[in-house]
Amino acid sequence: MTADPTPKPTTRESTQPPGEPPCLYRELADWCPLLTPVADYAEEAAFYCRLFETHSRHSPRTLLDLGSGGGHNAAHLKARLGCTLVDLAPAMLALSRRLNPECEHVQADMRSVRLGRVFDCVLVHDAVCYMASRADLQSAIATAFEHTAPGGVALFQLDFVAETFEPGTETGGSDPSGRGLRVLEWRWVPEPSREIYLTDMAYLLRDETGTVEVRPDRHVMGLFSRATWLDLIDAAGFEPLAVAFEHSSANGTRVANGIVYSAQCKPMRRTPSWSKARRNSCRWPTGCDA
Ligand SMILES: C[S@@+](CC[C@H](N)C(=O)[O-])C[C@H]1O[C@@H](n2cnc3c(N)ncnc32)[C@H](O)[C@@H]1O
Repeated sequence: MTADPTPKPTTRESTQPPGEPPCLYRELADWCPLLTPVADYAEEAAFYCRLFETHSRHSPRTLLDLGSGGGHNAAHLKARLGCTLVDLAPAMLALSRRLNPECEHVQADMRSVRLGRVFDCVLVHDAVCYMASRADLQSAIATAFEHTAPGGVALFQLDFVAETFEPGTETGGSDPSGRGLRVLEWRWVPEPSREIYLTDMAYLLRDETGTVEVRPDRHVMGLFSRATWLDLIDAAGFEPLAVAFEHSSANGTRVANGIVYSAQCKPMRRTPSWSKARRNSCRWPTGCDA
């Protein structure tokens, strides 16, 4: 009998220590571009740029990206805005430095970083989903406020609010050359009383020799109501504005179903005119009510 030329997949236990970032942002960081190819971000980055330009009091020139990951949005935004990219994970910053060598990179936590300067635009993209408690979300929003110039705009892009969350599964991945990745993503709520959901991922990683490894990875994400989002953004000193996400795959497959984007804000210190009645009138756009 001849040896089987096809290597069998190997399965590894999760090596994620409690409190550590998912392994996708550590030892698997180099696989990220196969999971979410940079080119896929062009349309959404153009949408964020339009929002920044529409809602800024002055023509924006600088951007702070909190939780910038592999820098896939920045890769498209940097032609228009001078970008400073902040992420907690050194491996993700290394990836982004290779893609965006002209951008400033800072390793820091979005809950506590203080750079001592302000930016015309602050983007808190999908990394904000990792704020898994109200205290963490409040801290991240405070960081955004501290770094937003007067008349500038901060934009928070989240996958779900409590009202729109649905458990479900997604698949994805790509294999442009040599290596390939496929993923099964499974979202679920472990305890309805806690404001979190889990995204359990299983990656199939195929290397250049055809060897396949299976890796599980758990992502713990915050799940807050619209009112909580608006209240926290308001309390930080912003004027909240909910904006429907305009994207050709808004109800499609790239990210989760029922995407809700985004509380987009103008920084203004709270004034009496920002009354509860006015906040209540800040309705979520109907396009986001999936
Ligand atoms: C999905 S990636 C972001 C991708 C990014 N939006 C882009 O345009 O390529 C999520 C990132 O959030 C980062 N992250 C999670 N918690 C963080 C925190 N507290 N402070 C800074 N970065 C954080 C992770 O290290 C990871 O790189």
